[in-house]
Amino acid sequence: MGNDQSTMVAPDELLARFDARTAAGDAIEAKDWMPDAYRKHLVRQMSQHAHSEVIGMQPEGNWVTRAPSLRAKQILLAKIQDEGGHGLYLYSAAETLGISRDEMIHQLHSGKAKYSNIFNYPTLNWADIGAIGWLVDGAAIVNQVSLQRTSYGPYSRAMVRICKEESFHQRQGYEIMTYMMRGTAEQREMAQDAMNRWWWPSLMMFGPHDGDSPHSADAFKWKIKRHTNDELRQKFIDKTVPQAELIGLKVPDADLKWNEEKQSYTYGKINWDEFHRVINGNGPCNKQRMEHHIKVHNDGAWVREAATAYKNKQNAQKTNLN
Ligand code: 3HC
Repeated sequence: MGNDQSTMVAPDELLARFDARTAAGDAIEAKDWMPDAYRKHLVRQMSQHAHSEVIGMQPEGNWVTRAPSLRAKQILLAKIQDEGGHGLYLYSAAETLGISRDEMIHQLHSGKAKYSNIFNYPTLNWADIGAIGWLVDGAAIVNQVSLQRTSYGPYSRAMVRICKEESFHQRQGYEIMTYMMRGTAEQREMAQDAMNRWWWPSLMMFGPHDGDSPHSADAFKWKIKRHTNDELRQKFIDKTVPQAELIGLKVPDADLKWNEEKQSYTYGKINWDEFHRVINGNGPCNKQRMEHHIKVHNDGAWVREAATAYKNKQNAQKTNLN
């Protein structure tokens, strides 16, 4: 039911109808009535998802000019271009909820909005590009495949499209790690060092443990989330550990153990102090990431102004013709 009809129905009835629709697994569309809290929850999550995609272009962008071959450079360029596109899908999907692009960017620059912890770590060498593709995009795939069934239509459709490209990202990262593990002793050491540095922050990408996740209860009530943070983390671990072992990489967790009964791995304690330090702005690269984003956004102001002026001129011409 569109918003225009909602003026004749009592608020309780509107909420009851909305709850019945999400409980039935209906897709909620932009024109449908929705509780303000549902809209706010989605704006927060979707804009932060979009910010993550765009900020995530920085650590990988550092290695385009230093890729070890033309093929590697082409693949990395294609991946980074994909991430930019994912950001645009998600900003556009978030705008259907009534927030402007400018407001989302302002929230990012002012620190009001977060982006994924993982993009605040440095990329020290080419093995990091492999670890990001394999582990970070691998984690993102597990999360985003689940989000394909989120209750908000525009978000779900953006996820379907993004997931098609993510699997290429994960495979190209795993290919880099495989090549390095078949290489010289020094290359194997680089790959293991990258694994040691990216493994735990990748587990943190799924968010706090279920009992410490303030948003999950609502996310489940409204079918925004279909799996818990820990379920998705576990899925990622169970999928990734065999991949590591296959190419001779050691998972940097002395407590990692296969549980035959549960048919999954038990794992060590995650350093949540590090997680909170990083997401609250005090990670190794937070300052650099934000300064770069603000600089490039300001440098690009003329493009936005020109596009807006052109659109306004076109609209004025159309009005004169009518
Ligand atoms: N990084 C930064 N902040 C995080 C985080 C992370 N990895 N995990 C959780 N948080 C924040 C939440 O945003 C929330 O803070 P807020 O109230 O200021 O927004 C707080 O920690 C509590 O976490 P909750 O679990 O209660 O929050 P959510 O229910 O929103 O769950 C989430 C967190 C699982 C990340 C969920 O928001 C989600 O699924 N988001 C969409 C996926 C996403 O954003 N992925 C980011 C990576 S994108 C990417 O990797 C691109 C790829 O192509 C490389």
